[in-house]
Amino acid sequence: MANELLPLYRDASQPVELRVRDLLSRMTLTEKAAQMTQIERRVVSPAVLSGLPVGSVLSAGGSSPSERASPREWADMVDQMQRLALASRLGIPILYGIDAVHGHNSIYGATIFPHNIALGATRDGDLARRIGEVTALEVRATGIHWTFAPCVAVLRDPRWGRCYECYSEDTEIVRTMTSIVAGLQGSAPQDHPPGHPFLAGRNNVIACAKHFVGDGGTDKGKNEGNTICTFEQLDAIHMKPYLDCLAQGVSTIMASYSSWNGEPLHSNWYLITEILKGKLGFKGFVVSDWEGIDRLCQPHGSDYRYCILASINAGIDMIMVPFRYEKFLEDLIFLVESGRIPMSRIDDAVACILRVKFVAGLFEQPFSDRSLLDVVGCKEHRLLAREAVRKSLVLLKNGNDMKKPFLPLDKNARKILVAGSHADDIGFQCGGWTMTWHGGSGRITIGTTILEAIIEAVGNETEVTYEKFPTEATFSDQEYSYAIVAVGEDAYAEFLGDRTQLNIPFDGASIISLVARRVPTVVIVISGRPLTIELELLDKVEALVAAWLPGTEGGGVADVLFGNYNFEGLLPITWFKSLDQLPMNAGDDTYDPLFPLGYGLKMNLEKKN
Ligand code: GLC
Repeated sequence: MANELLPLYRDASQPVELRVRDLLSRMTLTEKAAQMTQIERRVVSPAVLSGLPVGSVLSAGGSSPSERASPREWADMVDQMQRLALASRLGIPILYGIDAVHGHNSIYGATIFPHNIALGATRDGDLARRIGEVTALEVRATGIHWTFAPCVAVLRDPRWGRCYECYSEDTEIVRTMTSIVAGLQGSAPQDHPPGHPFLAGRNNVIACAKHFVGDGGTDKGKNEGNTICTFEQLDAIHMKPYLDCLAQGVSTIMASYSSWNGEPLHSNWYLITEILKGKLGFKGFVVSDWEGIDRLCQPHGSDYRYCILASINAGIDMIMVPFRYEKFLEDLIFLVESGRIPMSRIDDAVACILRVKFVAGLFEQPFSDRSLLDVVGCKEHRLLAREAVRKSLVLLKNGNDMKKPFLPLDKNARKILVAGSHADDIGFQCGGWTMTWHGGSGRITIGTTILEAIIEAVGNETEVTYEKFPTEATFSDQEYSYAIVAVGEDAYAEFLGDRTQLNIPFDGASIISLVARRVPTVVIVISGRPLTIELELLDKVEALVAAWLPGTEGGGVADVLFGNYNFEGLLPITWFKSLDQLPMNAGDDTYDPLFPLGYGLKMNLEKKN
């Protein structure tokens, strides 16, 4: 029974589709175009939001209301924007979006989980779901409704700068890890129709499966490059994880910057409309990537009307503009009024956006839940992250003689050396998408470094010497029982991480060689991908551990090194011998890796001292 006092779309007892239809019928073209517009936080002002009911606001990586803003400050900012949006003629709430891709990574003090490549090494879908649940709580604590995660790219070439954002090169492993969607959004009921958006409640966030489709398969791993394959290959390798996301009710999907056989995804009607919306029945909304439509012409954005025409008519519903929204609106309205974009396409796009907002309960509960503020970075969440670190570590070598394994380490050794560029660096442990878009080094947020964890773990009689960059002097008249050397990559994101060489940065190989010549050594590699390790270097070390990008909880590394837990991780990606083998994936006719997909050793803990 409709509530006579309320316009139907405001009546939460009404079916979503009736509310969508009612609200759509009340909207002007300008209001519809505004709903299809996503702008960045820095161009938002009271004038913009009250005068222009934009569909969404986002924070780019690290775009924070202030330096190290508190969760309360974030929630105040988002709620203030929401108040302005609700004051508009029809009072349509905004969706606020952010990249919370390994925890709420733009927030100082938030729990930072291992990046996806590490989680892929666990193959633990339930762990992914639990991480999604916790991430959703920390995101909602700051008033934010939507995360641009998970990235479900199937990684086929580690030279890609976004390797660490991928769970695996193996489609089935990626499919397993999509259960993070159920963690982020809440678990949809068994009878939930695949493709329809879902959100359980205020402790959950809208997820965004990205980047549709084939982003991990570009030629030579070039960021925003071209994936050359048949539709059958695209479907079998890259499309399948989206089926799992749709089955869980993923509410949004982001288009990929990349192309398929030369056709940009952002203007690909066949894949977005015919396949994703038609054949697969996706009823949430498709959002562009950041200035993704601008890339449809060269120089980027030069023929902006063409960019808008091609992307909207291809089936993209919301455009992450994110700055020049006036130009976007003016051109979009011109294209509709001139008949080049049919009003039916606009109505379809806005219906998808409104559907997600109604399903998310935004009209009923548009503001943040302040009771969540204290969960950001709380101990319980950090313990989950520490569990994820433990489960993600992959043991690649343990002793030069099977009968004399090197690990676990003796926590009561007399004197140990900890060395390397990555032994005491939270920023390097976290990698890209942490505090800023590309991340950084040093004390960028609250956490435990590997060095700190080792010092905490060893006995009171054990002396720990730390040398970031050891020299000959490090060893003069010193007798170390063993050495732990942590080396790896700097922090990077997207194209900044594209590589044609994958040697260990910061002179890592020399550090390993210098130390391993003098002291029995275990090497911890902190990286977003496999790195080049020469066989002769491998022979010099006693043990080798791939720790990926573990995040803030370095304690997980010490937990396993000293045998409190065993290794569980298995390589989610092929570890090449040399770059000229790439691309090289399990199942290829020629497959001669240093360590194959699925490789990982365990320790014999019975002998633990
Ligand atoms: C970036 C990325 C995408 C991210 C978006 C918003 O360029 O490609 O993964 O969600 O912009 O930050």
